[in-house]
Amino acid sequence: MKSTSLFAIFLLCAFTSYLPSATAQDVLDVDGDPIRNGFIYYVLPAIRGNGGGIERAALGKDTCPITVVQSPNPNSKGLEIKFESAYPAYYINETLILQIKFSYPQQCERKNPWWAIFKDIFEGPPAIKLFGFHGTELGWFKIQKASKSRDFNDYKLVFCQYDETWCLDVGIYVDRQGNRRLVLAVTGEPFLVHFHKISFSTA
Ligand SMILES: *[C@@H]1O[C@H](CO)[C@@H](O)[C@H](O)[C@H]1NC(C)=O
Repeated sequence: MKSTSLFAIFLLCAFTSYLPSATAQDVLDVDGDPIRNGFIYYVLPAIRGNGGGIERAALGKDTCPITVVQSPNPNSKGLEIKFESAYPAYYINETLILQIKFSYPQQCERKNPWWAIFKDIFEGPPAIKLFGFHGTELGWFKIQKASKSRDFNDYKLVFCQYDETWCLDVGIYVDRQGNRRLVLAVTGEPFLVHFHKISFSTA
C-alpha cells in the first residue's frame, strides 16, 4: 500500500513536467481534453431540455439522500463527480474499469460513498445509489462512446458485472413522482453525457 502511494506521488511529480499524449480510446471532455483519472467533473446531459446535471436525492425508503438522479432543473450543473480507476492510469480510456462518487460525501455516506447498483428496486429497474453494502450488484463502471454517428464527446456510462458476463448502459428512468433516476437501461436508451472539467483538482 505504502509503495503504491509513493508510486502515485512519483507519478504526479513526473507528470507535472510531462503530460502523456492521448490515445484514440481516451475519454474526452467537452473541450476535447482527455479525462484524468481521479479528477472531478460535472456530468451534463448531451441533449439539452430534460433536466440538468447529476445529484443525489432521498427517495422512497431512503433515510438520507443516496439515490443518484438527474437534476430536474435544466440549468443545474449538479454535483461534482469523481471518476477513479485503481489502475495507475493517467487518463481514463473506454476499457478502464472505474469507481464513481460525488466528490464531497455527506455525513451519512462517508463509510461508503461509491456508486453501486441496487438490484431490488421497488420503484423501477436496478438503480444507482450510494452506500452499497446489501443487495448490490458487484461490478464496475466504464465510460464509453455513445455511437459513431454522434458528437466526438458524447458518452454513456456503462456498468459491467465484475466478471464482465454482462455490461449494461446507464439510462434515465422517470418514476411515478417524476424523479429522473439513473438506472441500468435494461430496455431504454442510454443517458448521453458530456464531461465538463471543474479545475485541476482531485478533491
Ligand atoms: C486503457 O488504459 C489502461 C491503463 O492505462 C491500459 O492498460 C490500456 O491498454 C488502455 N486501453 C487502450 C485500448 O488504450
